[in-house]
Amino acid sequence: MQLEGKVAVVTGGSLGIGAGIVRRLAAEGAAVTLDYFSHRDAADTIAAEITSAGGKAQVVQADVSQVADVQRLIAQAVSAYGRLDILVNNAGVEQPTPFEFVTEQQWDHQIAVDLKGAFFAAQAAWRQFIAQGGGGAIINISSVHEELPMVGNSVYCAAKGGLRMLTRTLANELAKHNVRIVNIGPGAIATPINAATLNDPARKAALLGEIPLARIGTPGDIANAVVWLATDQASYVTGTTLFVDGGLMIYAGSL
Ligand code: BGC
Repeated sequence: MQLEGKVAVVTGGSLGIGAGIVRRLAAEGAAVTLDYFSHRDAADTIAAEITSAGGKAQVVQADVSQVADVQRLIAQAVSAYGRLDILVNNAGVEQPTPFEFVTEQQWDHQIAVDLKGAFFAAQAAWRQFIAQGGGGAIINISSVHEELPMVGNSVYCAAKGGLRMLTRTLANELAKHNVRIVNIGPGAIATPINAATLNDPARKAALLGEIPLARIGTPGDIANAVVWLATDQASYVTGTTLFVDGGLMIYAGSL
């Protein structure tokens, strides 16, 4: 077990990539606080699985778009497990819409969850890391779309592009207390966020055609990268993005 004695918070931990990360961190021995927004049953099921296998997990409801909620989330992790070592900013929403039809509400919602939420959760974690003497890792689940443009998805791309610069900037500020911040850029992963694409055979085939490794990723593929980035094996890695995308980012056509 690589994370024995570590304490982790995962936002959006009840579904998709987040659920995979929660299970994997707990299997590696971390005590995990699993945040959910609306899927209480899914969150409870994961926590029950973990505790019945002898692991440590608690469920906390928090809306990451609300600063007071993320501060309470971090505080509840610390009050249950005594400290904080790892924050995984995973919660995200995506509402693909052609530019001319994007509403103010859609802009505000996606930016608030995908970018503001990560910012203020990182700030709350940072304060805790300093209070306990330094050290810690913040891992943001970004997207290939922090760099790769996507037609009809401008707000999501803007949020993820913002997350890229947030990580690159904060890595400079956080280094003085040995806190690392890193993005993971998933490609197409089988989760509810892109169910519409994956359930449409033509769209799925088109997507697969642009992935050199020719498969859709799994939450486990992302969770493996999170574990590595959270351990001391990655102690010299900060301010960068690790793309876990089967090669989607560097797709250059076929022969
Ligand atoms: C999006 C998915 C999309 C994938 C690859 C992810 O960030 O959430 O909907 O399939 O990028 O384009």
